[in-house]
Amino acid sequence: MKTLLITGGCGFIGANFIRFMLARKTGIRVVNLDKLTYAGNLSSLADIAADPRYRFVQGDICDPDLVGWLFAEEAPEAVVHFAAESHVDRSITGPSAFIQTNVVGTFTLLDAARAAWSDRPEGNGNRRFLHVSTDEVYGSLGPTGYFTEETPYDPRSPYSASKAASDHLASAYFHTYRLPVLITNCSNNYGPFQFPEKLIPLVINNALHGRELPVYGDGRNIRDWLFVEDHCRALSVVLERGAAGQTFNIGGNNEKQNIEIVTAICHLLDEMAPPLENGRPRTSLIRFVTDRPGHDRRYAIDAGKIRRELGWQPDTSFEEGLRRTVSWYLEHDAWLRGILDGSYRSYYESMYGGR
Ligand code: NAD
Ligand code: DAU
Repeated sequence: MKTLLITGGCGFIGANFIRFMLARKTGIRVVNLDKLTYAGNLSSLADIAADPRYRFVQGDICDPDLVGWLFAEEAPEAVVHFAAESHVDRSITGPSAFIQTNVVGTFTLLDAARAAWSDRPEGNGNRRFLHVSTDEVYGSLGPTGYFTEETPYDPRSPYSASKAASDHLASAYFHTYRLPVLITNCSNNYGPFQFPEKLIPLVINNALHGRELPVYGDGRNIRDWLFVEDHCRALSVVLERGAAGQTFNIGGNNEKQNIEIVTAICHLLDEMAPPLENGRPRTSLIRFVTDRPGHDRRYAIDAGKIRRELGWQPDTSFEEGLRRTVSWYLEHDAWLRGILDGSYRSYYESMYGGR
């Protein structure tokens, strides 16, 4: 059995990744280290909690004793590092937690891996430290061009600056200590289990209940959207076949203006959910509001390297992915209510006691 140490597995992408790996791969165990911040939800993994191949450990990646103990206790062959403060708006109002978790936490994990794996340097064995990062480290694009793996870093928000710092640390641990690090820089994900502070689930939740839909600025900022399962598949391919020291950009080849997305969600909900009072269309809920400070205008990924070298490309069209996402939220109202009212914490106590 190969043990994977996953950090941040109770968050959006981490939970999807754990489900993806346990459903498709044999011969693996997953140890999930998660602090359970506001963004971490045990209910996202409720149906696999009893799987003998799965272990949950509540804790902070910034705690060197805990992380060192976990490496000794579990002897993981690979680390897939998702844990982070991930929301740009929160990084503007409260950057401190971002520096702590994203920079200090990543350093703590890298250093624990270096200590635990010092017997076998890079190139010897199948060990991997996959650092999951973002396209936001590259800054903002004008109307043309794409981010490649060679694009210079130019982060603009405290979130993206903290992720850029963590990428540099990961890269430094490869070059200095030959730690078998891989870095992925991915575009905006969407899909099941995403916390409803992010654009797509926020709009689904508000539009469903007839609440206003805040669109920042002129609504014409562009993101390159990727269905989360496609991201999980890309990460599994990088983990299995990527060479240590490599960076891979991952994207959906799917640029959309924010206003296009908000409008599309309104149309889908008008079709799939009970109508609003007076039968008014949900687009009537759209409100243009004050822009996000330093709002990056456009992100777009050139995912040519991962396609050429590892044969990965996205499978899910945006139309299909968005419809599946809206359906999922309609069918999982209890999950949404649970994470919004904090009842998942009581659920945690009932499942795991004080652990
Ligand atoms: P998320 O906010 O949904 O989940 C983060 C998880 O990390 C939560 O379960 C939280 O409890 C945990 N966590 C936070 N601080 C911790 C700490 N100190 N110790 C242990 N656990 C801690 O995030 P996400 O959207 O799933 O993103 C996961 C990773 O992918 C992040 O590193 C993010 O930068 C990166 N990423 C996200 C996207 C996206 O569109 N969401 C795109 C590209 C890259
Ligand atoms: O590009 C990858 C990044 O994508 C990840 O690294 C981040 O963790 C993830 O949060 C996401 O960052 P964004 O800032 O792009 O995502 P968010 O969902 O917050 O916003 C998407 C776009 O929608 C952005 O242009 C801001 C806009 N927006 C967002 C919210 C929450 C609105 O117009 N209204 C809103 O209420």
